[in-house]
Amino acid sequence: MKVVAITSEKGGVGKSTLAVHLAGAAHAGGLTPLLVDEDGRVGSSLRWARRAGALPFDVIGADEVRPKKLSRYDLLLLDTEGRPKRKDLRQLSERADLLLVPSGVSALELDATRELLDFLHVEGAARKTRVVLTRVPPVGHAAEDAREDLREAGLTVCNTLVRQYAAFGRAAEAGVLVRDVPGERSASAWSDIQRLAQELW
Ligand SMILES: Nc1ncnc2c1ncn2[C@@H]1O[C@H](COP(=O)(O)OP(=O)(O)OP(=O)(O)O)[C@@H](O)[C@H]1O
Ligand SMILES: [Mg+2]
Repeated sequence: MKVVAITSEKGGVGKSTLAVHLAGAAHAGGLTPLLVDEDGRVGSSLRWARRAGALPFDVIGADEVRPKKLSRYDLLLLDTEGRPKRKDLRQLSERADLLLVPSGVSALELDATRELLDFLHVEGAARKTRVVLTRVPPVGHAAEDAREDLREAGLTVCNTLVRQYAAFGRAAEAGVLVRDVPGERSASAWSDIQRLAQELW
């Protein structure tokens, strides 16, 4: 079983959105994912799942994890709290096979992401860390430029850019996956997620 932890230095960058949708993409690809919510506040993936009870995979709180029951899952996705304490981050990097760090493309967000990656580098976890650029504005080249800059600095950055679509917000409100939100942009939003999933496993 592969363990993928989603973490970030800043809050609100799209961790829960990615966690829910990557679990959805894994399920659509024939895997049996388990999404573990290690956050528990408003907006977290567990609350998302409870809204309509319509997500096609299991979502549980961190306190409900029973090691014995994990063997039937292929993929464990951990949705974590933003701004983790260094101690928690160290533990997370030890538990996970892959640390996925979503980041917006503004200068402030990129600085926060670089800071987090510096810490993970010192911890020897850089090898299993990947940045994914999210909430990418529909116009301009800011995300392509950021991806290039981060790569030049030696970081591993996913090719896929997860673009900003209002449909992601509607999916969260309805407690469903974005592919089930009415509107023509929903398919584009879902295709960003599927491309990202293909890159990751
Ligand atoms: N690709 C996207 N396009 C449009 N809106 C997005 C996208 N990703 C996330 N959002 C929106 O941004 C807000 C924050 O997203 P989300 O809750 O996933 O972030 P988070 O990193 O889990 O936040 P927190 O640190 O509070 O746990 C939500 O309103 C969500 O709908
Ligand atoms: Mg969250």
